[in-house]
Amino acid sequence: MSQWLNNVAVVTGAASGIGLGLTEHLLKLGAKAVFMGDLKEENLTKESGRLKQQYPGKVFPILTDVTKREQVESLIREAKAFDGHLDIVFNNAGMGMTVPTEQVTFDIWKFIMDLNFMGVVYGTYTAIPIMREQGFGRIVNTGSIVGRVPAPYQAVYAASKSAVISMTESLQYELEVEGLSFGVICPGNVRTAIFGSLAPPPGSISVEDAMEIIFQELEKKTLIIILPDEVREYDRMYREDRAGFDQFARNLAAERRENYRTKGTYY
Ligand SMILES: NC(=O)c1ccc[n+]([C@@H]2O[C@H](COP(=O)([O-])OP(=O)(O)OC[C@H]3O[C@@H](n4cnc5c(N)ncnc54)[C@H](O)[C@@H]3O)[C@@H](O)[C@H]2O)c1
Repeated sequence: MSQWLNNVAVVTGAASGIGLGLTEHLLKLGAKAVFMGDLKEENLTKESGRLKQQYPGKVFPILTDVTKREQVESLIREAKAFDGHLDIVFNNAGMGMTVPTEQVTFDIWKFIMDLNFMGVVYGTYTAIPIMREQGFGRIVNTGSIVGRVPAPYQAVYAASKSAVISMTESLQYELEVEGLSFGVICPGNVRTAIFGSLAPPPGSISVEDAMEIIFQELEKKTLIIILPDEVREYDRMYREDRAGFDQFARNLAAERRENYRTKGTYY
């Protein structure tokens, strides 16, 4: 029997890309209700409208800015009130930031940390007391491979994502005895709107392929989900072959430096 059957779930950043993929997959696997939080009203209305037709009575779009604590709290509390239980929360909303250091302002730092990290903190710390009281529940946050390994031109993004990863891991060991379980998704490149007007980078995978891997690992209760396999290799190299990783990172920096100089973008 599907472990997702009758689950009540919350997904943030649910109107596009990975969040939309998570939403669709949960519904396909038998979830009872998915509360879709997103900031972009137009996309949220469009995507939730399409899913409502396919899964009537199971799709609940709620306009949510994850940088606003009260909005995240009301999204999660509404999900819990629906059927008296909250099974899984995906704190997924976030955005990329790849820029040369001279363009990074303190406002950019604050904006990215508020969105990529504090947005996840609000969702996590709102769900925890509810799940503790129930004695069960799962919180899955979206990190990035760039939170596991350093990446030139991505210091801000890397910092926000490694904060997500270390918080999530720490909570797992603290709260598993109370029946809570945590996961952190660390993708390489997945073809979504995150790349803006740029074509998705070479080697990126589709949202569908990402979902296959993510749900396989979620079912095994994997704490740190790194995907796809090629990206897992960078993680291994960083931890087991520092000289190899140093060379890789220096080459990547040189490549990005040259791309900025000649094309104005990092790839
Ligand atoms: N696509 C990738 O290659 C990749 C790789 C690593 C990590 N990630 C992470 O995956 C997550 C999802 O990204 P994606 O690739 O699906 O991008 P996406 O742009 O397709 O989707 C992100 C969604 O988040 C929403 N959002 C942005 N700010 C928000 C806010 N303040 N409140 C609520 N919603 C907000 C957007 O409206 C959008 O619908 C992000 O955390 C991102 O950092 C993506």
